[in-house]
Amino acid sequence: MYSNENFSPELSECYKIMERIRGRIGGLGLKYFIETYGCQMNEHDSEKIAGMLENCGYSKAESKQDADFILFNTCCVREHAEKRTFGNVGFIKELKQQNPRLLLAVCGCMMQQKEVAKRLYDRFPFVDLIFGTHELKNFPDMLEKLLDEQRLFRVSDSEGEVIEGLPVKRNPGFSTFVNIMYGCNNFCTYCIVPYVRGRERSRKPEDIIEEVRRVALDGYTEVTLLGQNVNSYRYGDVDFPKLLRMVHDSVSELPRIRFMTSHPKDLSDGLIEAMAELPRVCKHIHLPVQSGSDRILKLMNRRYTREKYLQLIDKLREKVPNVEITTDIIVGFPSETEEDYEATCELVKKVGYSNAYTFAYSPREGTVAAKMDEQIPEDIKKLRLNKLNAVLAETIPANNEKYIGFEGEILVEGVDRRGEPLLFGKLSNFKMVYVEGSEELIGSLVRVKVDGYRFNSLFGHIIRETEA
Ligand code: SAH
Ligand code: SF4
Ligand code: F3S
Repeated sequence: MYSNENFSPELSECYKIMERIRGRIGGLGLKYFIETYGCQMNEHDSEKIAGMLENCGYSKAESKQDADFILFNTCCVREHAEKRTFGNVGFIKELKQQNPRLLLAVCGCMMQQKEVAKRLYDRFPFVDLIFGTHELKNFPDMLEKLLDEQRLFRVSDSEGEVIEGLPVKRNPGFSTFVNIMYGCNNFCTYCIVPYVRGRERSRKPEDIIEEVRRVALDGYTEVTLLGQNVNSYRYGDVDFPKLLRMVHDSVSELPRIRFMTSHPKDLSDGLIEAMAELPRVCKHIHLPVQSGSDRILKLMNRRYTREKYLQLIDKLREKVPNVEITTDIIVGFPSETEEDYEATCELVKKVGYSNAYTFAYSPREGTVAAKMDEQIPEDIKKLRLNKLNAVLAETIPANNEKYIGFEGEILVEGVDRRGEPLLFGKLSNFKMVYVEGSEELIGSLVRVKVDGYRFNSLFGHIIRETEA
C-alpha cells in the first residue's frame, strides 16, 4: 500500500471522496458490472475503475441484470464498434425501468471522440455519465455527482499528469498488467489511437517497480508491461531496455516478465540483448509488421522498410534462442495493389510467425488515411483477408515442426474440457502447450516435453524434475 504521506493533494482528495461515498452507500449492498472492449489498455483501465468502485463500497455483480452501476468501456480502433456500443447502451433502458437506482456510464476510447460521445449523450437521455480516457482520476468525483442525480459529460483534450496510487481491482488469475506508459506519438496514418489516448507519457521507473513488486507479492506469476509502443519508453535516462533490466533485477521473485507492444522502428539492439540475457524476461515479441510492401509502409508512416524488418527478425532469432514472433497485419490499405498485397503474403511466409492478428483496413474519421484517394472496395479487402488467413493457416503449423521433442516450462493456466480434459499453459515464448495432469498444477510452472501439434498449439506431457 501507498503510505498517506506520499499522497499528492489530488490523490488525497480522490480517497476522501471515495470515503464519503462509502459512508453514504456502504451498507446498501450495491453492485457494479463493467463490460470492456478493445485492447489491454482498456482492460487495465477497467480494473482501475473497478478498484475505485470497490473502494466506494460497491461489489462486483454477476450480470448486468444484477447491477446498480453499469459501465461500458469502449474501443474505436476498427469499425462496427459504434453500432454495437449504441445497441448495447440502448438495451439498458429496459433495465433502468426495472431498477430506478441503476446508473449507466460509458467511457473509453470511443467516448474520447467528442462528436461520437455527444451523439450518444443526446440520443440516450438515460445515460448518466460519459467520460473520456483522460478522466480516470476524476471518477470518484463524477460518481459522487451521479449519486446527487447530476447527469455528466466529461471529455477533455488535455491528458493531465500521470497520477499514481489509485486503487486497482485486478482480474483473478496468474497473469496481470502494469502500465509503463500511456498514449502514442507515432500517428500511423490509419490509426485513431494517438487521437484518443493522447501523447506519450512514461511512468517513473520507481513507481513501475513498486507496482510490479506488489503484484508479485500478491501471487501473480506473470506481469505484462504495457504500452502502445514500449520501445519508446523514456524517463530521464532510463529507456526501455534499462527499465526491463531494472524490473527484472529488482523483483527477483517474479517468474515471468512480458511486454507489449513493440514498434519495429524503435526495436534496439539493447532490447534484443536484454531479452537474450535476462532469464525471466519471456522470449516472445509482438512485432506488428502491418504490411510487407515498402510503398504501403511509407503511406502508413511506419518508418521502417521490409528489409529493415526482416533484418530485425534475423537478429532476434540469432540472439534470442527459441524466440517466437507474433504480428498484426492490415490488408486493403488505400491504394494497395495486388503486388503490394502479394509482398505481404511473401513476408508472412518468410518470417514464420507463431501467430498473427489480421485486419481489413477500416477508415477512421480524423486519420490521414481515411482521406486518401483509392480506398479499396470492401469485397476486395475481404478476399485479401481470407487469402492471407489461408497463408497463415499453412505457415503457422509449419513453424511447429521444430518443437517435436522440445522441452520447456509452461505456466499452467487452466483445464480445457472440450474433449478429454487437458491442462494448458504457455511456454515463455507464448506457444500454448496442452498436457495431461492434475488440476492442482493450475498456477504453477511445470516442465513439459512436446510430442505433437495442431494448428498453433502444441501437445506434450509433463516431465519430472529429475528427467529435465
Ligand atoms: N500500438 C499497437 C496496437 C495498435 S491497435 C501497435 O502499434 O501495434 C492494434 C492493431 O489494430 C494494429 O496493430 C493494427 O494492425 C490494427 N489497426 C489499427 N487501426 C486500424 C484500422 N484503421 N483498420 C484496420 N486495422 C487497424
Ligand atoms: Fe496506432 Fe501506430 Fe501508435 Fe500503434 S504505433 S497505437 S498502430 S499510431
Ligand atoms: Fe485499445 Fe481500442 Fe483504445 S485498441 S487504445 S481500446 S481504441
